[in-house]
Amino acid sequence: MAKILVTGGAGYIGSHTCLLLLESGYDVVVLDNLSNASEAALRRVQEMTGKTLDLVVGDIRDTSAVRALFAQHSIDSVIHFAGSKAVGESVEQPMAYYDNNVVGTLRLCEVMAEVGCKRIVFSSSATVYGDPDVVPIPETAALRTSNPYGQTKLVIEQMLREIANADPEWRVSLLRYFNPIGAHPSGRIGENPNGIPNNLMPYVTQVAVGKRPHLSVYGNDYSTPDGTGVRDYIHVMDLAAGHIKAVEYLAQHSGADAFNLGTGVGCSVMDVVNTFERVNGVPIPYQIAPRRAGDVASYFADPTKATQLLGWQAKLNLEDMVRDSWAWQSANPNGY
Ligand code: NAD
Ligand code: WQD
Repeated sequence: MAKILVTGGAGYIGSHTCLLLLESGYDVVVLDNLSNASEAALRRVQEMTGKTLDLVVGDIRDTSAVRALFAQHSIDSVIHFAGSKAVGESVEQPMAYYDNNVVGTLRLCEVMAEVGCKRIVFSSSATVYGDPDVVPIPETAALRTSNPYGQTKLVIEQMLREIANADPEWRVSLLRYFNPIGAHPSGRIGENPNGIPNNLMPYVTQVAVGKRPHLSVYGNDYSTPDGTGVRDYIHVMDLAAGHIKAVEYLAQHSGADAFNLGTGVGCSVMDVVNTFERVNGVPIPYQIAPRRAGDVASYFADPTKATQLLGWQAKLNLEDMVRDSWAWQSANPNGY
């Protein structure tokens, strides 16, 4: 079976994808500098699957380390998760974000070109759509973004398309994730943010477990059904499955393509809170707070293209997501 290099494979989405790759029979090599992850995640993935993977602790910008990895392993395709992802931090440290995300991807691609491994699945983001003109959002929507993090995703998308245009041996999938939440249903691996969570679901689970007194709901005066922000939450296991489909697609198709990975269903902040309380039987105290700068009222995916071309569709719903997020947080109140 083919060997896949997973950059950032120790992280949240990467660890779930490694698990599914191993279960699907792929050989897996992870390159991760552990800047935002723990080796424990991959130890657990190996225990859960009864299979082994190779972890190389190193940086995608370290060309000699990446060269050595490709010399040691015959890599069929790369799934590229490694990068920095906090929107607020990117506003404070734009240079660090361009360096890690843009320069990091460029350095990785240089070595891939050198060794003739020219298939890459890239973690893009729905943030490339900014405040969209229409929802559900198709891949053809205008691309615009208001923060350095989103800008790095746009630059990388553009760079990968141009690389594929210049050399038809390159095959590129740009996966635009909507809002990944949830965890493996066993609760053994999950999202493990450092410090105070920026994102809704890890904040909710930390309130549920008693680490934070209440949730701040950022605005209840948006023009949405209940006034709170609407997003397309997608279960991380569905997202992981989308990566397997993208790898299979690249084995058959050339060129560069972008795909939305979302459910197509918009849920409000209060939908998430109410569903969490109902499914898990745990109260989530909350207070209405002012809108958060940079937030948009509503966005959710049109996932038709991924269904038609990749044969992928999200199978899990909000109840599954809140149940599995809680399975992880309640069993691991302090993370790994
Ligand atoms: P994460 O931080 O859990 O995973 C990223 C991993 O990359 C971490 O394990 C980190 O240690 C590693 N890493 C960072 N820089 C590296 C470098 N220079 N060299 C080697 N390893 C490095 O994040 P995640 O939520 O799993 O996200 C994975 C990817 O998906 C990121 O590119 C992110 O921008 C993108 N994405 C995430 C979301 C989300 O909400 N989680 C949404 C859209 C897109
Ligand atoms: C969701 C909703 C908030 C926290 C971010 C990035 C995006 C992508 C996914 C990487 C919004 C509300 C949140 C809280 C709240 N990441 N909220 N109280 O902002 O849609 O997307 O993660 O690519 O680029 O911007 O996700 O989970 O932060 O917020 O009321 O404590 O929850 O206002 O309506 P967001 P989020």
